[in-house]
Amino acid sequence: MEKSNSPERVIIFDTTLRDGEQSPGISLDVGEKLEIAEQLARLGVDYIEAGFPIASQGDFDAVHAIASAVKGPVICGLSRTAHKDIDRCWEAIEPAEKRRIHTFIATSPTHMEHKLRMTPEQVLEEAASAVTRAREYTDDVEFSPEDASRSEFGFMCDVLQAAVDNGAGTLNIPDTVGFATPMEWAQRIKDIRERVRGDYVISTHCHNDLGLAVANSLAAVGAGARQVECTINGIGERAGNAAMEEIVMAVNTRPDIYTGIDIDIRTEELARASRIVSRLTGYPVQFNKAVVGRNAFAHESGIHQHGVLNERTTYEIMDPAAVGQGESQIVLGKHSGRAAFKDTLEKLGIDIKGDALNSAFTRFKELADRKVQLTDADLEALVVEEMGGNVDHAYELVSISAQGGSTTTPSADLEINVSGELVAISSEGDGMVDASCTAIKKATGVEGRLTDYSVMSVTGGVDALADVTLSFVSEDGLKVAGRGLSTDVVEASARAFIAALNKVAHIRTTGDDPNAIERPGHIG
Ligand code: KIV
Ligand code: ZN
Repeated sequence: MEKSNSPERVIIFDTTLRDGEQSPGISLDVGEKLEIAEQLARLGVDYIEAGFPIASQGDFDAVHAIASAVKGPVICGLSRTAHKDIDRCWEAIEPAEKRRIHTFIATSPTHMEHKLRMTPEQVLEEAASAVTRAREYTDDVEFSPEDASRSEFGFMCDVLQAAVDNGAGTLNIPDTVGFATPMEWAQRIKDIRERVRGDYVISTHCHNDLGLAVANSLAAVGAGARQVECTINGIGERAGNAAMEEIVMAVNTRPDIYTGIDIDIRTEELARASRIVSRLTGYPVQFNKAVVGRNAFAHESGIHQHGVLNERTTYEIMDPAAVGQGESQIVLGKHSGRAAFKDTLEKLGIDIKGDALNSAFTRFKELADRKVQLTDADLEALVVEEMGGNVDHAYELVSISAQGGSTTTPSADLEINVSGELVAISSEGDGMVDASCTAIKKATGVEGRLTDYSVMSVTGGVDALADVTLSFVSEDGLKVAGRGLSTDVVEASARAFIAALNKVAHIRTTGDDPNAIERPGHIG
């Protein structure tokens, strides 16, 4: 892909493999770094900062491997100002088609005094000399005054001027400790551009200690920054760096604000990049993370679901496909509405209408109140159970409570609607399920015996739905099956038993066999 030279083009400088890898607990081997670098190339980033070659042999090897194998982006290595660092950095990036050396030194009073133990004059000299050395290797040299947000402005600009005068083509301004605020950062970028003379690209590199890394980066773009340093998923030192996916999508989604700004990234690769980085670093992506989080395009409330099903843009400002997230997701939970319920069933191939839809929806709401999320399997099982083979419901469970344990006699108290009349009934039994079935027999007056009983969980987890199926032979020899679902096994059993007794009642009045129509797929 040919990149444009427009003055409004913002270069994406990815530092996932350098600053991102400096996150506590992350240590990537060469193969893992190569896998991420290949994905960054697929994304179309302009620069990959592949590592800090002097830091360790492993870092050197990874930068060298990436420089040798990854085509497309410019490969950059980080280096302090010492000449041996710069030489080592060059050695690592040399095999690449396009190469950059990024050298840096701190310019804030606290860093110069307590970390570098250098005077400002020494720092200025170091910066100039490092850029000169780097330029002996390549025309593409970037310089950063570390801790720029806490540096004395005049002195920092003198250092930046020395870097430009000695051949740095990019001046990267780091908010190393995430101290800046957006308006202040924009002003600093503007002031630097006014003060430092020469032909250079101004870049911004923001950390997220106050949660402002993306906001500060965007403010810098508004103030003329034409390179943004960022990482996938915002990983990086401490609270991390600015998240690439958020910056890219903010600019793409708001061209009215970022007028004319051109960022050349294949956004459909963002979600995949996020997944790869998360998998290899072991850093999970929070569910509600902007752009790449698993809930970024998921809707649970009924009002939102209804809106999105009619027209996606009612509640989405980006197309999930544009960032590689597939389609909008309707998540069924206790806040969901009838439209989303029906739509989900249709996608499962279950066509349900009228009263059947109403009663299935009522059951769904009851279950959703108890179970955080219902899976497709839960829904399918629920609808089949609720339809009960399309028989009229002579008996309906209204409420159940059961007591059991090793020191009390198991008992159950039920309320059952028997042909429109509410019957309250209690019974004891060998267990809570037996007590419930005995109570149901008493309330309905149907006698007979259970011949089969099994419980399965529809999906995994402690909140899974219990799916009870049973067979029953009535005293007049009718053989029927029943199925019941609930997050509670006793309730699921009572529901299955009542479903079976409804079939007995149905056969007795009509002579039909309702089992012939107990299938999901065409219920209506
Ligand atoms: O945050 C920082 O200051 C850095 C520099 C090396 C650019 O990462
Ligand atoms: Zn940094």
